Amino acid sequence: MCGIFGYVGNKTNAAAMIFEGLKTLEYRGYDSWGIAVRVGNTLKIEKHVGKIGDKKLHLPASSLGIGHTRWATHGGVTVANAHPHLDCTGKIAVLHNGIIENYEILKEELVRKGHVFKSETDTEIVPHMLEEYMEDGMSFSKSMEKTFNLLKGLSAILAINNKDQEIVAAKNGSPLIIGVGTNEYFIASDSAGILSYTKKVIFMRDYEMVILNTKLLLKNLHSGKTIKPIVETVSWNPESASKGIYRHFMIKEILEQPKIVRNIAKTYEGQIKALGQIVEKARRTFFIGAGTASFACMVGVYLFSRIAKKHANTAVASEFNYLEDFLTKDSLVIPLTQSGETIDIVEPLARVKEKGATIAAITNVLGSTIYRMADFKMLLGAGPEKAVASTKAYTAKLAILWLLSHALIGEFDKAKEELLVCAEEIERLIKKTNLEKVKKLAKKIVTQEHMYIIGRGISSATAFEGALKVKEVSYIHAEGLAGGELKHGTIALINKGVPCVVLAPQDETYDAIMSNAMEVKARGGYIIGISSKNSPIFDAWIDVHETAFPAITQVIVMQLLGYYLAVLRKLDPDKPRNLAKSVVVK
Ligand code: AGP
Ligand code: GLU
Repeated sequence: MCGIFGYVGNKTNAAAMIFEGLKTLEYRGYDSWGIAVRVGNTLKIEKHVGKIGDKKLHLPASSLGIGHTRWATHGGVTVANAHPHLDCTGKIAVLHNGIIENYEILKEELVRKGHVFKSETDTEIVPHMLEEYMEDGMSFSKSMEKTFNLLKGLSAILAINNKDQEIVAAKNGSPLIIGVGTNEYFIASDSAGILSYTKKVIFMRDYEMVILNTKLLLKNLHSGKTIKPIVETVSWNPESASKGIYRHFMIKEILEQPKIVRNIAKTYEGQIKALGQIVEKARRTFFIGAGTASFACMVGVYLFSRIAKKHANTAVASEFNYLEDFLTKDSLVIPLTQSGETIDIVEPLARVKEKGATIAAITNVLGSTIYRMADFKMLLGAGPEKAVASTKAYTAKLAILWLLSHALIGEFDKAKEELLVCAEEIERLIKKTNLEKVKKLAKKIVTQEHMYIIGRGISSATAFEGALKVKEVSYIHAEGLAGGELKHGTIALINKGVPCVVLAPQDETYDAIMSNAMEVKARGGYIIGISSKNSPIFDAWIDVHETAFPAITQVIVMQLLGYYLAVLRKLDPDKPRNLAKSVVVK
């Protein structure tokens, strides 16, 4: 995972700013940390094992530096393995978020050439490669360009040297955001720390490299061409999403969703298109996942059909074992998993591998078991999800699936714009007035023992996910149903006052789901409409504005409803009974 923070400019307290920046990024990894600053023509380094906590810094005044808080993937948690890493001469310092998959072969070559390694990390090859190219007379930035293009895997890398007043950074997969100040630049894995200094940011895209000195130069690593940076102004307040001010992780994570969805829309193009090519090549695509992720898989199947006109299949991962006999070499399996560790997914994937089918994993955790098993990997970029109930990882998956299904028909740009509109709507849904509205609704139904959630089409997946959110944290029995299924049995359970949430976006499902709502109302049910349009059928109404992708907005209301029901019932929504965040037993 890891957090990165860099500064170049005219202030002389670079180390202190980086130190504070790293504290805001510690959620990304906290087993060790380190900072390198340039002082005159030397680099000064400080590294420690453990959390930053209230440690004191000992670095001198400087106006250029980089810092890292590590989440180890290669090599134990030691000072030697903490970043930044140096070349043989101590004149180049590098830090890295991600995994360099081909590091062994590159390292062997460097060792043959006489380079001496001091850590067990994959990262350390980078300063030595830069050293090698610079000895051949290449500039610092050109050396970085050449090096980065030789690396396999998902990485974000920052480098400085003792002579130049500049940071050179490149990324593929892992996030990097540039903060544009007055005569200064910041660069970090997340905008949280940057926003204390500037709200003007540039979201770097995959295969981009930036040179930050008195100017900013952005380049595409494939074409080598200069790109005009798009500077955006972040409107949200960094403090509002900071750790610690919230009562529970669950609500904190619900509130983080607009930022995560926006970030995916703005920075995932390269990865999404690469996955699109893999889907195109495959003869069949299967989505597998467990719990919340299995409902994201369901959304994937609907989107593939509706948008991309492509057949995809899904099964809960624990059942895939009994369904995978027809897999062949040209099948593609896409596991969706927050933790990347769920045993119900790991097990069938082992068989998928034996059959020679391709695995393209979409997970939140770098270096996790499923991440390592996969042929193609994409990170969710949702940041650590600590509440047992998955919220932001779900919407991150949906955002990716939305972009992917459109990328398959060459409509990535349109989908991106539509997703940004959805992020705006999510932002509205988490505003105080709306939170109060959902809380009021929760108060109304908190004493109920059962509730039902119905939807059709993609909204049926939201119904299943909504029911899981409510039941796992509030212990109210909640059942999600495809609207048409009610009359095939479950409607027998409806009697006076039983709450039924009706997901009614203005799409082709509207008329039919409203008829189903009527059927429940006729039997005394208390109808809660989640829709952009009020109706006399609704006893309560939560207004969710119309967007192209209602599944990603409707679910926010269900997450909030689950959360408030748990709080009102005096339960801890972060740690529901009998559950664990990462399910590693069968
Ligand atoms: C849902 O809120 C979770 N408690 C649970 O269902 C989770 O989604 C499931 O265990 C899958 O986890 P994963 O995404 O880490 O694989
Ligand atoms: N692979 C690198 C390491 O193990 C970076 C890990 C990270 O992203 O923190 O040190």
